Amino acid sequence: MLGRRTLFSAAATTGAAIASFFTGRTAAAKSSASSFVGDVEPRGTDGRLERLPTLDLESTQDFLTGFRTKINTEFEGIALKRSRKVLEDAGLNPYGDHPMETVLPLLENDPVIGARTRLWIGSQQVTWKTLQDHFHEHADVYLEEMEAADNAGPGTLELNPDMEIPEYTKHEIHIQPGGYVGDPFAGHIYHYGTNMFFAGRNFQDELHLGHARDVAAPEDGKVLRVLELGSGSGQLTVALKERFPEAEVWGVDVGGPMVRYAHMRAADLGVDVNFAQRLAEDTKFPDGHFDIVMSHLFFHELTEQASKNVIAEVHRILRPGGTFFPIDLWSRGQRPGPQAFQKYTYWFNHRWNGEVWFMEYANLDLEGTMREVGFDVNERVRGRQFFENLTGTKKA
Ligand SMILES: C[S@@+](CC[C@H](N)C(=O)[O-])C[C@H]1O[C@@H](n2cnc3c(N)ncnc32)[C@H](O)[C@@H]1O
Repeated sequence: MLGRRTLFSAAATTGAAIASFFTGRTAAAKSSASSFVGDVEPRGTDGRLERLPTLDLESTQDFLTGFRTKINTEFEGIALKRSRKVLEDAGLNPYGDHPMETVLPLLENDPVIGARTRLWIGSQQVTWKTLQDHFHEHADVYLEEMEAADNAGPGTLELNPDMEIPEYTKHEIHIQPGGYVGDPFAGHIYHYGTNMFFAGRNFQDELHLGHARDVAAPEDGKVLRVLELGSGSGQLTVALKERFPEAEVWGVDVGGPMVRYAHMRAADLGVDVNFAQRLAEDTKFPDGHFDIVMSHLFFHELTEQASKNVIAEVHRILRPGGTFFPIDLWSRGQRPGPQAFQKYTYWFNHRWNGEVWFMEYANLDLEGTMREVGFDVNERVRGRQFFENLTGTKKA
């Protein structure tokens, strides 16, 4: 039987490899559960998000969310303006498409642009640290809570602690300590941490509900089975079930802690969705099984080759006429843009924000790859959130 420790002691095989790489901690509780007063989430919910258990932690996260929003709006505007001035001073057209080798030395050492970068990264570091500290300090209670939910319904959870975890997934993506596969509370940390990234839109799942509304159903209207790849904390998977209540809905993710958290949350919400710790490039589902396959913010975290493997797998598991809706940065085919500041931003995400495969993603011809494996790339949907996206339909 899978106990709360089993998942991570069994993962010790991978753990050895991870340990040398990650600074992430183990599940060892620093203090006993008895030092934690009350229920695990004694403070109710804010929309669909369980309130953090202490006012101290909650207000820290609220502050960081507001601060990050300020950085992404006002400070970003200041840095953008500054980048144009720096280019002009160097005798370059501030709106021109200059190579990275020209742009970087000019922008990366500029104090105004650097200050914006530092604040952005710093706010993220504090977010992760405060969350990780909290969940580890109360590890026993949180592990117990997840363990109790493992077999709870209405949906199912499949954990595969002996699964081989691909090397390319073992990194501290967006500097999240332990990444998705190296911390038992990766799901908790990701869910609360991304509330700051998404400017508070995890409170009501606004972002994910919007994406679920945007997905194009197959032309014949038949939607019996739906899959989300890289389902993370499961917000989109849940939203897909709400959009297609009659369908069997699955979320697949490489991270055991991710699916474990996602399942617990879905069970808590009473939503009947299934989560499995599996690879998106090897989902184990039969050919032609799904009517819709979706992903959100997934491909930019894969190597170019892994993306190609996943797209081939999606084609295999979709039925003819089924639709594939991958939502991500530039999935419509945009590349790191001509503006120098935008280029610099992509680079700093890669260099300082742990976005290890960002530049490979920039090289990926998503549309071409989809066509190559047999999709009609027949629609460009203006997503209601950040991105413009492609929809692929498997040819009949
Ligand atoms: C940025 S998160 C997105 C989570 C979720 N889709 C959302 O919208 O919040 C990317 C997720 O993809 C998962 N992932 C990365 N590589 C994977 C792979 N090869 N197979 C399955 N999941 C993978 C990660 O563990 C992570 O949970």
